[in-house]
Order: sequence, then C-alpha cells, then structure tokens
Amino acid sequence: MNFKTILFSVLFISVPITISTAQEVPILKTSLVGNNIAEFIPKGFDKNKTPSLILVSEPKSKGKLPSDWSLIPEFALKNEKASAVLHLNGDISLYGGGEVTGPLLRNGQSIKLWNTDTGAYSVEGGKRLYQTHPWVMGVRKDGSAFGIIFDSTWKAELITNSNQIIYNSEGALFRVYIIDRKSPQEVIKGLSELTGTIKLPPRWALGYHQCRFSYDSEKRVMEIADNFRERKIPCDVIWMDIDYMQGYRVFTFDSIRFRNPKTLNDNLHKKGFRAVYMIDPGVKVDREYSVYNSGTQNDVWVKKNNGEEYHGKVWPGDCAFPDFTSPKTRNWWGGLYKDFLNTGIDGVWNDMNEPAVNDNDFPEDKRLGTMPYDTPHKGGDNLPQGSHLLYHNAYGRLMVEASYNGILKTNPDKRPFLLTRSNLLGGQRYAATWTGDNYAGWDHLKLSVPMSLTLGLSGQPFNGPDIGGFLGNTDGDLWANWLGFGAFMPFARGHACAGTNDKEPWAYGTEIEKSSRIALERRYRLLPYLYTLFYESSQTGLPVMAPVFFADVQDARLRSEEQAFLLGENLLVVPAFAKDPILPSGIWEELSLVEGDKQDKYQAKLSIKGGSIIPAGKIIQNAGENSFDPLSLLVCLDKSGNAKGELYVDSGDGFGFQKGDFALLTFSAEKKKDTVVIKTAVNQGKRNVSQEIKAINVQLFLDGKIYTAAGTLKDGITITLK
Ligand code: GLC
Repeated sequence: MNFKTILFSVLFISVPITISTAQEVPILKTSLVGNNIAEFIPKGFDKNKTPSLILVSEPKSKGKLPSDWSLIPEFALKNEKASAVLHLNGDISLYGGGEVTGPLLRNGQSIKLWNTDTGAYSVEGGKRLYQTHPWVMGVRKDGSAFGIIFDSTWKAELITNSNQIIYNSEGALFRVYIIDRKSPQEVIKGLSELTGTIKLPPRWALGYHQCRFSYDSEKRVMEIADNFRERKIPCDVIWMDIDYMQGYRVFTFDSIRFRNPKTLNDNLHKKGFRAVYMIDPGVKVDREYSVYNSGTQNDVWVKKNNGEEYHGKVWPGDCAFPDFTSPKTRNWWGGLYKDFLNTGIDGVWNDMNEPAVNDNDFPEDKRLGTMPYDTPHKGGDNLPQGSHLLYHNAYGRLMVEASYNGILKTNPDKRPFLLTRSNLLGGQRYAATWTGDNYAGWDHLKLSVPMSLTLGLSGQPFNGPDIGGFLGNTDGDLWANWLGFGAFMPFARGHACAGTNDKEPWAYGTEIEKSSRIALERRYRLLPYLYTLFYESSQTGLPVMAPVFFADVQDARLRSEEQAFLLGENLLVVPAFAKDPILPSGIWEELSLVEGDKQDKYQAKLSIKGGSIIPAGKIIQNAGENSFDPLSLLVCLDKSGNAKGELYVDSGDGFGFQKGDFALLTFSAEKKKDTVVIKTAVNQGKRNVSQEIKAINVQLFLDGKIYTAAGTLKDGITITLK
C-alpha cells in the first residue's frame, strides 16, 4: 500500500482498512546439527520461499536439543513478513553484523540489510552498506559466547539491543541457527562449520596492493611499478580499474591505452608484480559487442515481469545484468574469464555487484538505486524462482561464486584471487573484500579498524579498507598514519578515486615516503607469520585481525577496544592515532622489525605476547622472493619461561599443499636458569624445508632487553642470558 491509498482510505471511510498484528509462529522442529549448534525451523517454513544461500550445505540432524538450551528464537509473521526475536539475560557484549559502520561493540545498534552502493558512508551506525551478514555474536561476562544466524537473504533489519536481538525481514519465514560455546573463538569456528572458511590465498595476495581509479594506460601502470622497485618500496600487485576497458565494456581492453594486455602483464610479472583487473556485472547493451550478444543468445539476462530485458545504467550507460540465480548463467559467466585471464591476468575484482544501478526510481532513496523489488529471477537447481527482494542481497555472492569457478576452471593449478564489493554471510568462501568507498578523513581512518574487526568476527577475515581514503584528497600525515597500521590489516591496498591527488607512497614527499617504506617493510618482514595466520584461518575460520578482547575473553575492560587490534593471537598492534587504548594485561614486549621503526611517529606500536614465538622473514620487495634467508624467530617468554609458535610453509600458490606439499613447523622455547633453548619440530606435512630454511636468527625479548643467537633448523638454538 502506498501513501496515496492510505490517504484515500482515510478520506473515504467506507473503504475497509485491515490492520494486522504480528502472529506468533510456533517452532516446528529443533535439533542439534553440530557441536552445540542448534537449528530452529518455524512452522510454515518453505525452502522454496527462503532458500539458504548462506550455509555450505544442508545441515543434518545430529540429535535432540538439550533440555537446558537457553537461547530459543520466537518467530512471528505480520502481513506475510517474517521476524524472529531472541531475549537476552544478563550482561552481554554483542558483535557482528558484517560490514557495518559505528562501533565494534554492537549493543544498541540497528542495521539495514539491503546491499547498497553507499559511498562516503557516515561513520555513525545504521547505514546500509554493500554487504549482508545476518549474524550476531554475544559474549557473556564469563567469556562464554553464542552466535546467531538468521538464514535468509530477504531485505531485512537487524536490531541488537542489550536485552533482545530482533531480525525483521520483508519476506517469508526462515531458519535460525544458534551456536552456544565456551568462547567467542569457538563460536567463530562454529560459524565456519556452517558457512565455510576462506580458501588459502596465493601468498602474493598478502603483499601490498597499489590501486587507483584508474592507472589509465599501460605506460602509467609501468611507471607506478617501476617507482616501487626503484624506490625499494615493497609491493606485489598493481590494479587495473575500469578505464582499461573499451568504453567500460567488461572483458575488453581499450584498443589504444591497453592495446597489449599480454605484454603489460608479462612486463609486470618480470618485475615481480601481479595484475588484478576489474569486472563489473553490468554488460553494456550494444549489439556490436560479443559479450552482450553471447549473453542474449544464451538467455542469461535478468528480465522484467513483462519478459523484456531489464536495463539499468552503470558506467557504460544502459546495461543488461546476468541473472546469477541461474546455474546456466553462472556457468556462462565463468566461461568469459578464459580468454581474459589468458592474457596473464592474476586476479579479479568484482565491483558494483549489489547490483548498483544509477537510474532507478528507488522508493527509499533515488540516489542509491538497484533493480525494482519485483524484478523476477529465474533460479535453478536448489534455488526457486524469486523476486529481487529475495535475491538482491545474494546477487554479489552468486556473482562471485560464478567468477570464482570460472577463474579456477581457466587456471586449475592456481589459487584464485577474487575481491568483491558486495557479498553475503558465507561468501568468504569465494572472495576477499574491502570496505567500499570510504573517504580521506580521520573519522574514516579510525572507523577502518572496527569495520575490519567486525567483518573478521562475521566470517570474513580477508578484508581491509582503501588505505589513505578513496574519496577526497589525502595529505601526507593522514596517509602515513593510515599505512602505519593499515600495513597490518589482512588485505592491504592503497586506492584513490578519479579526480583526487596521487596517493602512492612517494606522492607526499621524502619524509612520508620513508615512513611508508618502513610500514611496508614491516609487513613484508611479517609475511611468514601472516601467511601462517591465513592458513589457520582457512582451516578454522578464526579472524586474522582480531579484537583485543580475544587476548582475554573474561577481561570486561577489553570488550569495546577498537583502536588497537591483534594480528593472530601473538601480536598486538596499536596504531599511532590511538589515544588511551585499553590493552590486555600480561607480558607484552615491544618489537622493532625495521631500523628506525620505533622512532617513526607514524608507525603502529607492535608488541609480542609473552609465551609466543613469531616467525618473521627478511625484508623483501615482493612475496615471490625468498623470505627465509634467514628465518627470524621473535621469542617472548611467559611467566614460567616458556614460549611456542608455528610457521606454515608451502609453494605459495597452487594446490600441492592439499596433497601434503607443505610443512607446519612448531617452535618451542624453554628457559632453564641462564639459558633459553629453542627447538623446532615438523608437525604436519611432507614438504622438506631444509633447502628453503637454512639459517635461523633468534631474537629474544625479555624484560625490555633483546638477546640474539643464530643456528639452523636441525640443531636447536641456545641463548645465554648474559
Ligand atoms: C566503485 C568502487 C571503486 C572503484 C570505482 C570505479 O566506486 O567502489 O573502488 O574505483 O567504482 O570502478
């Protein structure tokens, strides 16, 4: 009903008005579907109305819900719109919701789940962003925790009040999954049991990425690449934004400015760079364009209810959109990557896939357009036919599934690297993400920490912001501050919007260039640790960048800390901007990784946790160079004089690791009187690393002093504390 009909009803009272109230919906079935994971199915739930696009597979019942299970959702229906409420007791810290603005601690927040192209988003909570994560995690006072998945993609609202969690959808009934375990870390593992984990990325994807909208010619791309190498600033990837295309037609190259993509990519490779190119979902309506014609022949386009192709304006003007709900369309789309990637492209960037459309009469906000709600989608296989209101929030997720599979099919011996702007809870299985069009301001710099942390607590560890800020001009101070801690975020990419100033590490003068180099050298020294964390995350779903409260889940002081963060469990990162951060107690020793880093005002303060050993490499210019010549072990003992750590090593790309071509090394340190003995063991894997890791340097951080020793993998290393 729209405003006019309401007015009509009021003026002419003879027209009957029906005001419906919410009807409670009983629970039809509950069962355990995993270790302390419960499934709740409301009466009337129909998979053909609310299919699951979030879970990896259909859960199987593993027994009855225990009689003392405390968290039970209450379902209701009002005007055929389903909702669920969970009542909470006690003092509970709430997190999650995926890509959100506002604070890390989500008590008292509400978000709209409707993927939207929201550039320069407000730092306050409540804005619609590009992704949908119907997921909340609660941490109780004693450190035990729970997580809730509302398994629906319908347009919705998620309210996280301290006493109740409310999920109001605009569609049919859905299932709810609740994980109740002893710690937030165990809950996140439960989330990944249901929704999957990231795939192990190629090692180069953990290096620094340099992007701009756009480096708009082959010449400019090589200038950027050459600058990195000449100035000895580590970097792995140069990104090609939309201007490489011929008139913004996806899967084409500009015939003048990018006439030799193969040569360009070969030249980048020779210098140790990888090339990532953008692909948007909108395909220009142009009868001279092979992709459009092929799409039409294969009947892949989203069509309106009257059977005509749906067209919406994006960069190239009128576009048709693949209906990714159809398996046939996904397959067709995946096939487009073959010739494209065969030019030597290493990675793909899927953007504008909310999908963002510029000319639509969108009832809530004309600027934030997409397809009309009632636009039909075909479905196929497990997906029913459904409206855009059902599938909008899954459009990006289905697109990246299609892209991922196409990329893998083209290069079956390489690990796909795919970045997406839009996604859905569970979509971490296909693509990494970034936090969209932020701007060059201190509020966005600060916001980037809780945003990345929250994505990590929502199943998406491989994420980061546009370092330096995308929109608006950036000054050297902002840039260096941002890179000073952004260098420790899981996805580290500098990006800049068209029309803004140059935002490369050398664009702000020599002092900032020096600080940028230090920040990136620190990241590259930590690559062995970072790669190990990504490996672990691909196994467990645990975040790479974690909130400080993960260091001690019972310490109530830490629950809202959102300036400092942890990299893995063992490294504490305190950005230079942080004022009075609340830090975990216990032993933490400050590290220096690169000469001059502790004195540089832009660098984050890095501290190693007592009881841990962090593997580090030497400074390299790209991830393809040998890190382990020598391998450094950074050691910090706990109260009882012990420490341990891990290092994951494999070939850096491909799938040999799945057949045992990897090594998971464990290190241990033990203090006995005046000596500390460090030992290595190969815990898992068949890879012989004796050729890769010949020498080891140990740095022991003890009571503010540093002790060093050198040795080899085989013969343990002994440090004398004198
Ligand atoms: C969108 C993306 C941005 C990109 C631009 C041009 O705004 O979010 O990262 O540079 O489109 O493709």
